[in-house]
Amino acid sequence: MDKISSIRGMPDVFESDSNYLAELNEILGKVFLSHNLNEINTPILEQTELFIRSTGITSDIVNKEIYSFNDRNEQSLSLRPEGTAGVVRSIIQKKLDSSEHKLWYQGPMFRYERPQKGRFRQFNQAGVELLGFEEGSSDLEIISIVCDIFIELELEDSVLKINHLGDKETKERFLSELLKYLKTYKGEFSENDKEKLNKNPLRLLDSKDVDLKEFLSKGPKIIDFLSSEQLNLLDNIQSIFGKYVEIELDSSLVRGLDYYTGLVFEAVSSNLGAQDSFLGGGRYDELSKDLGGKEMPAIGFAIGLERLNLIKKQKNIRSNKVISFVTTSSKMNALAFKIAQLLRSHNYDIRLETNFTDASLKAKLRKASKLGAKFVFIMGDEEFESNSITVKSFDEDGYQVNMSFDEIVDFYKDI
Ligand code: HAM
Repeated sequence: MDKISSIRGMPDVFESDSNYLAELNEILGKVFLSHNLNEINTPILEQTELFIRSTGITSDIVNKEIYSFNDRNEQSLSLRPEGTAGVVRSIIQKKLDSSEHKLWYQGPMFRYERPQKGRFRQFNQAGVELLGFEEGSSDLEIISIVCDIFIELELEDSVLKINHLGDKETKERFLSELLKYLKTYKGEFSENDKEKLNKNPLRLLDSKDVDLKEFLSKGPKIIDFLSSEQLNLLDNIQSIFGKYVEIELDSSLVRGLDYYTGLVFEAVSSNLGAQDSFLGGGRYDELSKDLGGKEMPAIGFAIGLERLNLIKKQKNIRSNKVISFVTTSSKMNALAFKIAQLLRSHNYDIRLETNFTDASLKAKLRKASKLGAKFVFIMGDEEFESNSITVKSFDEDGYQVNMSFDEIVDFYKDI
């Protein structure tokens, strides 16, 4: 019989990758809690209309990437391509759209994109939405959360790009200048850029066409159309958070979703290749009204967990939380299990992998390294005789130290 395989771009998460979700969520959860955010969970399936009215009819998401189908009742439903629309829909539906909410969520999203490194058709996002807050301190709060994620996940070789799209009126003035300037372009527009020109010319600013990019770099810049408050906000972000995160003002940053209005930002990492952006967000003051709700200014962002995992893997960070405990012969099993039981009871945060088979020590060490373990606890003949354990560090320093059972319990408690 033919075998059945998974859908392209929707890989099983298994083996070395299988713990990243739990680990990343734990770290992100801590950051979200420290900012006093509450969790929200919305369904994976929503009415297709929700995404047309939020991410926008001109966005790639709605045009080419959305997974839609009719249910048995002929109602058009879609797998969510992102989380913001569902969160806003939920708040409006609960009639909570005249109060303030600080929320976070995590879960799978679906986009019919061409799969490649860091790009999937099913992927996981963690997101934050601050709803009911006008431009000002909430913009700083959102960047502060991003900043804490950078610090907690040690993303020091990443850059946070920021830009401001202005308010409605600024945007209109800028667009009219941009269109005037584009009329003088002598080059050819690609099919993709032609579509942007007709539907949403602002998106031409992130065109991949080298000639058009060069031409636009000499054209009008949105920054020259911003009010002093808007410019102040960009300055404040740089001066408050610049010492923690590398921040770059990028006037070509427009983002691919139609709902953005003011501040927009994206985090990129040189460790990711073509899909270098792992976090994106911005202000979306009109979305609540576009979805039939009250005026509810808001700002948020989402982070791609698979891309974060790629960065972590490339940096070859060994997890503090993984320890491999090995013996050199199965005759030590009874004592080794006793010690493992004792250790776990002192610290359930650690993933203690026990390997008490008769395989060679070399093979066991290789396996521990592959697991991303930070330490290996070794019980060989000498240790067995002297009631002790050798701790080997897998860090660059590679130290090795012998500990009594009491000492190893203390060591384990504090990891
Ligand atoms: P987004 O930039 O479309 O924004 O996606 C956010 C992140 O999701 C990206 O930076 C990337 O890490 C990840 N991502 C997107 N597409 C894929 C894919 N095909 N495969 C793997 N990872 C992917 C949003 O979704 C907005 N809802 C963010 C937001 C929240 N804006 C305001 N509030």
